[in-house]
Order: sequence, then structure tokens, then C-alpha cells
Amino acid sequence: MNDNNEVFSINYKKSLQYWADIPPTVDGVLGGFGFISNADIEGSELFLKSLLSSENAPSNNVALDCGAGIGRITKYLLIPHFESVDVVEPDEKFINSIKEYVGEVASKLGTLYKVGLQEFVPVRKYDVIWNQWVLGYLTDEDLEAYLKRCRDSLSANGIIVVKENVTSSGKVEKDSTDSSVTRSFKQYIKIFKKCNLKRIKQCKQANFPNGIYPVYMFALVPNNKEIEK
Ligand SMILES: C[S@@+](CC[C@H](N)C(=O)[O-])C[C@H]1O[C@@H](n2cnc3c(N)ncnc32)[C@H](O)[C@@H]1O
Repeated sequence: MNDNNEVFSINYKKSLQYWADIPPTVDGVLGGFGFISNADIEGSELFLKSLLSSENAPSNNVALDCGAGIGRITKYLLIPHFESVDVVEPDEKFINSIKEYVGEVASKLGTLYKVGLQEFVPVRKYDVIWNQWVLGYLTDEDLEAYLKRCRDSLSANGIIVVKENVTSSGKVEKDSTDSSVTRSFKQYIKIFKKCNLKRIKQCKQANFPNGIYPVYMFALVPNNKEIEK
């Protein structure tokens, strides 16, 4: 639902309540679009592989899956490429499903943090921090503070990946159902700049159905010229 005519602000409690009623399935975490999961993982895999084989590539020790849901990305994308994967997910039912969903490779799961990203403070160094379909739940202010914390928790050559819907209208679109926003491409670029994050690669997800938001992947590294704390 688009609320542009109403006063709208992101309400963390309301988002949590929304997700509390959603079943712990791929279709559930993808809002009924479970059928795009394979194409999504294929696109992410190409993007991640290109990062891991680039000059100054990150190591493959530890990745972090943020707003992990039931661990779809952890299982199919991150575990195959990293020694260990930590996750952040505030919904109790989702986080309790991750181990079973990941199954055979669950020994590669590291720490599971049950907390919202607005409060999450990374306490170890990560090679890749993957944020997908979750940043629209954070206010601009909290998103900036969070990205700065991520930036400061990267290992040498570490990379933050953001994979998010962007609006075609160029404006922020608000959804009161789950209390989230969809930002424009330009807004994301502005926020990355404010956080002293440099885009080293970006790519539009291919092979998604028509009629949904365009989805972009951004690979971000600290802009070492001028690190602002
Ligand atoms: C659309 S699902 C995406 C799940 C997963 N990233 C994937 O692609 O399979 C959004 C997820 O974000 C989580 N979420 C909602 N608000 C959050 C917040 N403030 N901090 C962290 N995660 C949040 C929800 O519980 C849900 O698991």
C-alpha cells in the first residue's frame, strides 16, 4: 500500500509485528515471490564470484547475513563460499528456523544475533556483509549509522554488499503494511557517500519478472581517503 498522502515514519515495532505473522518459508520471506529465489541466488552468485576473484579480493573466512529471514542467502549463497557465516535476524520464529533450514551445512553457521540492524553492533571482522531486502526497514538516520558500523567492522579487503529494490519513480515509496520504505537509486548513492563508502561494483539483477521493483546490487568498500567516524 502506498501511503504518500499520510504522515509516515518507520515504526520498528510494526515491522516486527508484520513479520511475526509470516510463515518461515521461502515464499514467506519473499512476500509470495518464492519463485524468484533461484534467479536471485544466481544473480548474487555471479556478483559475489566476481568480487571474490577480483584484485584485492576479500578473504573467505567470515560472512554476515543481515536481515537473514530463514537463512535462504546463508544456505545457498554464503555458506558455499565462506568458512563461517553469522546472521542477524530480529524475528524469533525465523531465527529459530535457520539451523534446520540450512540443514547439512549448519556446522558452518557461526553466531546468530536476534536483534534489529538499528541496534546491531558488529563485534568481529567480516570479509563480506550481505544486506538484502532489509534496509528499507531502517530510517535514513539509523541506516547511515548502521552502514558506518559495518564499514568499521570489515576485515582487510572486506566488502559490504547491498542488494535492494529501488523505485522507478526516483522518489521514496512508503508501505504502511510492513512499515518500510523503498528508496530510489539516487538516495542509496547519497547515503553511501555520506558513510564514506565507495562503490567498486554495481549490477542490476537480471531475469526477474516484470512489474516488480528493479533490484540493484552494490559492492561497497571504505573510502580510505577520508574516514569519518
Ligand atoms: C523480505 S525478508 C528478506 C529475508 C532475506 N534477506 C532473504 O532475502 O531471504 C526481510 C527480513 O528482514 C527482517 N527485518 C525486518 N526489520 C528488520 C530490522 N529492523 N533489522 C533487521 N532485520 C529486519 C525480517 O524479519 C525479514 O526476515
